[in-house]
Amino acid sequence: MKYFKYRCAFVLALIAAIALHAQTFSVHSPDGKIALTFLLQDGKPTYSMTYATKPVILQSSMGLQLAEDINMGNGLKVVKDSATQANEDWAPVWGEEKTIHNHYNGLVVTLQTQTGRLVIMQLEFRVFNDGMGFRYMWPRQHNLNHFVVNKELTGFALAGDHKVWWIPGDFDTNEYSYLQSTISTVDATKSKGFTEIGLRVPFSESGVQTPLMMKSQDGLYINIHEAALVNYPAMQLDVDRKKLTLTSVLVPDAVGNAAYLQAPAKTPWRTILVSNKATDLLSSRTILNLNEPSVIKDPSFIKPSKFVGLWWEMHVGKSTWDYAAVQDNYTAENIGSAKPSGHHGATTQRVKQYIDFAAKHGMSGVLVEGWNIGWEDWSGKWKEDVFDFVTPYPDFDLKEVNSYAASKGVKMIMHHETSGSVTNYERNMDTAYRLMKNFGYDAVKTGYVGKIIPRGEHHDGQWMVNHYNRVARKTAQYRIMLDAHEPVRPTGLHRTYPNWLACEAARGNEFNAWSVGNPPEHETILPFTRLMGGPMDYTPGIFQIKVDYYKPGAKEQVHTTLAKQLALYVTMYSPLQMAADIPENYEQKPDAFKFIEDVAVDWDASYYLEAEPGDYLTIARKAKGKNEWYVGAITDENARMAIIDLSFLPAGKSYQATIYRDGEQAHWQSNPMQYVIETKTVKPGDVLKVKLAPGGGAAVSIK
Ligand code: NOJ
Ligand code: CA
Repeated sequence: MKYFKYRCAFVLALIAAIALHAQTFSVHSPDGKIALTFLLQDGKPTYSMTYATKPVILQSSMGLQLAEDINMGNGLKVVKDSATQANEDWAPVWGEEKTIHNHYNGLVVTLQTQTGRLVIMQLEFRVFNDGMGFRYMWPRQHNLNHFVVNKELTGFALAGDHKVWWIPGDFDTNEYSYLQSTISTVDATKSKGFTEIGLRVPFSESGVQTPLMMKSQDGLYINIHEAALVNYPAMQLDVDRKKLTLTSVLVPDAVGNAAYLQAPAKTPWRTILVSNKATDLLSSRTILNLNEPSVIKDPSFIKPSKFVGLWWEMHVGKSTWDYAAVQDNYTAENIGSAKPSGHHGATTQRVKQYIDFAAKHGMSGVLVEGWNIGWEDWSGKWKEDVFDFVTPYPDFDLKEVNSYAASKGVKMIMHHETSGSVTNYERNMDTAYRLMKNFGYDAVKTGYVGKIIPRGEHHDGQWMVNHYNRVARKTAQYRIMLDAHEPVRPTGLHRTYPNWLACEAARGNEFNAWSVGNPPEHETILPFTRLMGGPMDYTPGIFQIKVDYYKPGAKEQVHTTLAKQLALYVTMYSPLQMAADIPENYEQKPDAFKFIEDVAVDWDASYYLEAEPGDYLTIARKAKGKNEWYVGAITDENARMAIIDLSFLPAGKSYQATIYRDGEQAHWQSNPMQYVIETKTVKPGDVLKVKLAPGGGAAVSIK
């Protein structure tokens, strides 16, 4: 495709009688629709971006402030520029489609300081048909060895007062409900989590996190995030509500620095996705394309899968993680003398029931939480050596559980809650993974609840980013699959580490068990925000919607209908899907559970049929290597008609569709568990119209 580049030499501002030095470089997307302009003006690097001639980002600042008094945002000159491009296909180990197209036109500009210490920095841009990415790079050089980044100057000047879906800028968690406002009225103090949980403090009233989803008044969908977050803190954004400009805020470390780098070094990619169709953002692979290829030579141990877990029963208070009747400093030595509370969930006997259920219903894994000593003292106690990750409670027989699982063809899934004590986890990681391998575990769920030990480090700072990435590498070495809860939000690194199947890193279904919960629109926003960076372990599939079933009088409930819980297996993409409810609840509704048994977790192709952030979304996917399709349609608190256009089915045949939908009187609050299952013969080109209840959804399997 065409690559346009033109260079304006010197522009003389005669009127002011000052010579302004400006250099311009432009890059167009392969289809010509997106234009990126890099402009070095008076020594300051800036950029702007348009989509079909509409402004997306107005001229905005670039650069960094390095602690060694080097301002890489001013006083620079261009010493070199070169064009890059790619037009190729690659195959992910697993994914929403079996082949991904990487097609861009790019530019690398080399900049150099003009006064003081001579430092070279490069800017790399890649412009795709659905967005672009840019990053800063420092080649190996004489004058720059170790250096500290104080501040990043990257700005995003918006072309209007867009509608925006956001969560507050919080350096430690993304577990918030989204707020919708205009850019000019963003107010982080209005966010629920702000007052609800003391730990959470947005960095400013106007701070927000990425992925940030916006819609302009002229109908452009714009998403700002980052790709390949490696050895650098996460980028959050400060909103200038008057100027309508966003500025990068790097999550600082314990002493206020942002990043410690050593040349050669590079920042993650700053990504801006744009289209006039919301569905184009869901199908974008730009963030994945900007990540490095897989480092795992033999990925045969990596298996997308479904699992059940001894988990929801603790979240609804039916049993507990901890074992002892009183809190104490239990260790491997004294746990035997502890008096059991009688409510411990992870007993050998109970776990065997989950294993039996998994074996009977084709779920390949069983997660068990609360199996190891430490839960009496976790979270909030600032105890550094809270867990050892190897010592089971006296009523959990590690060997027996695993041999029983093996005899039933089921894999146990390990749980490592760190309780924020990451130094402790780092010390114990190898021992813990060796124990897993000895007993045949090949997947681990990690967790980072609470403030980070060492004190002062944040979940989203460089120190922790390096930890999460180290865990991905180390688990890969041990041939272990990884699912991280409470890490920094993903940035497409699952391309590089395909053993890192999923993260939570957002407000999951669990919040419905013990808090005000997630509003019915939550799951219509997540695919446009959190999921832009990678799969989410949302833990769908709750059939017993109301918590008063377990605790009479309880107000908590899941804020969806049962049918919508089924639809989430398709709309909330993850190669690792939990059937999160307890076996007894599934046994009561085998007809609805059939959808969870059937639904695939790895795909040949995905079709994004209709979507509007915060309102609704319908996605169809073809199971990998099979002539089976699964459709999920969900709505917010409003009833709606899902329009499922079956044009994606191969021509010349008819198929059997099973539709799992909301009953006529279903409603997420007043009547959430009413559903209807019906079958229909369908053919390509048919359009299914399915009524969704308020807070409802529909799931369809087609064979
Ligand atoms: C929070 C996680 O999201 C949840 O899945 C887990 O059960 C608890 N932490 C305990 O580790
Ligand atoms: Ca969580």
